[in-house]
Amino acid sequence: MCGIVGYIGTKKAKPILINGLLRLEYRGYDSAGIATIEKDGIKLVKEKGRIANLNSIDEINTLEGTIGIGHTRWATHGKPSVENSHPHYDNSKTFAVVHNGIIENYHELRKFLEDKGYTFYSDTDTEVIPNLISYYYKTEKDFLKSVKKACDDLKGSFALEILCKDYPDNMIVVRQDSPLVIGKGLNENYISSDIPAILSFTKDFYFLNDREFAVLSRKNIDFYDNDLNKIEKPIKSIEWNTASAEKDGYDDFMLKEIYEQPNAIRETIGSKLSEDEISFNDFSISKEYLQSINKLYIVACGTAMNAGYTVKNTFESLCKISTEVEIASEFRYKDPLVDEKTLCIFISQSGETADTIAALKLAKSKGAKTLAMANVIGSSITREADYCIYTHAGPEIAVASTKAYTSQVVLLNILALYFAEILKTTPKKELSELKKELLELPKKAELALRTVAEIKNFASIVYKETDMFFLGRGLDYYTALEGSLKLKEISYIHSEAYAAGELKHGPIALIENDVTVIGIITNPLLVEKTVSNMQEVITRGAKTLVITNQNIDNSQFFKVINIPETNPRFAPVLSIIPLQLLSYYISKAKGLDVDKPRNLAKSVTVE
Ligand code: AGP
Repeated sequence: MCGIVGYIGTKKAKPILINGLLRLEYRGYDSAGIATIEKDGIKLVKEKGRIANLNSIDEINTLEGTIGIGHTRWATHGKPSVENSHPHYDNSKTFAVVHNGIIENYHELRKFLEDKGYTFYSDTDTEVIPNLISYYYKTEKDFLKSVKKACDDLKGSFALEILCKDYPDNMIVVRQDSPLVIGKGLNENYISSDIPAILSFTKDFYFLNDREFAVLSRKNIDFYDNDLNKIEKPIKSIEWNTASAEKDGYDDFMLKEIYEQPNAIRETIGSKLSEDEISFNDFSISKEYLQSINKLYIVACGTAMNAGYTVKNTFESLCKISTEVEIASEFRYKDPLVDEKTLCIFISQSGETADTIAALKLAKSKGAKTLAMANVIGSSITREADYCIYTHAGPEIAVASTKAYTSQVVLLNILALYFAEILKTTPKKELSELKKELLELPKKAELALRTVAEIKNFASIVYKETDMFFLGRGLDYYTALEGSLKLKEISYIHSEAYAAGELKHGPIALIENDVTVIGIITNPLLVEKTVSNMQEVITRGAKTLVITNQNIDNSQFFKVINIPETNPRFAPVLSIIPLQLLSYYISKAKGLDVDKPRNLAKSVTVE
């Protein structure tokens, strides 16, 4: 989804803005632009298509200003075009604005401004913002007050960077339900939609809450609440190193992130888990509170939700708490049965997913306690929730989530064991065996990565296919869902995942000669059942790939790929790895852009 960068300092802003925008490319975009304050006012350059197109416009080289804003646009209101690209001026070219999010009442605001004589040059919702600020500036004659008044009129979501030609040494930023971070440097400050884009410039960040304003100068950042009272904000140091946001010799971020999984899991386990006990540095929950709850909700979107599914049964069987897993975009509109006896866990890599944040706010309003599980430090969800725990997977840049998923599954399992330990609902011996097995996962993930050659070969056989099916029982069904999602996202092959037992109830009608069916078989108690479902598709001519850690008769399948054995509860962490590799190599074989698949954005910050 759209990306924002900003710079105010002593260096030329243009190269810094272009560098930041390039690092935000992975979010997905179809046009880009920058604006700087020059001696003779605000200058703006924008172009359709790639940042390289923008950077090759002659005019961009005339920008000398040391304060500027930049944007990559992912078209929502109005097609990708120069006119619709950001930044946008007001009619008098006193203000320039970039905006992420959606202004829901822009029709009404546009009409109001048109009636006052304003002209609009784009189809965007954004263009009302600079003109509204300009409208209030006529009476307020103050940059911040005018921005605040304009924001009061806006309905919807926004992260805004605003320049004013009358304030050449200031930039104002504000947000509402859309991500934005401020990086602090020495005599310079940076803005971005997310941390990795400016990580090479600073490691010190401020995070704005909804409707907080920041007025940036070169040396200072002043923060204000929605009533324009001055407030103090804590600064947070981010440990991620710059290399973790680079490709580091890999062809694509996705491949790098797949290979980072053993280490990401190791970091997520960190010091929380030993064979003796589980403890979180910055999070604890009392036995009394846990005993008081009668329901757990796990709420998330996409891959994060697939991670949630894998622990439903573990929370129920080890902690004896009834657990529901729900899609955030459904949860938020269904009046869920949630009250003070419910603990709601919200999982999000980015911590900025609009539906997940809205679901969290709803749960809170119904009296439930909320726990955020995020990867991005300081992200919105972590600030909204009552409790917060982090996966320590490091920056995930590729749109297709890989290391975040395995880290989420691991952390959710640690959490379940932690609750079980506090509640004493699982025998000590069983818990300690599970802990031991969790600690083995980084090493086993390394072994699972060794399936790469076989997977690459299988990908070279099936990459031209148009449909594929994934089957599994128990937790393997959730791995099937996640494997199928990965394949769709980056290879554009139509795929479906089914609980293997459901096959006979309809989907088997789709199986025809030579169609690829992938079976995941990791639970010793369910091997025979799934094998017999796979036989049913073989009989109908399917080409079968089996991912397993069980002893099965290989001869009946087209290809069997073995992964390390583990406790069935943790198998999703290992069985997804060959499926991630499969999607990756199919996408490569098709010559697609693995990291930036069509129509997708890394973090879905609008509904
Ligand atoms: C994963 O491959 C997807 N790109 C997508 O489903 C993602 O997991 C989902 O949008 C949720 O994102 P979040 O974890 O940042 O909230």
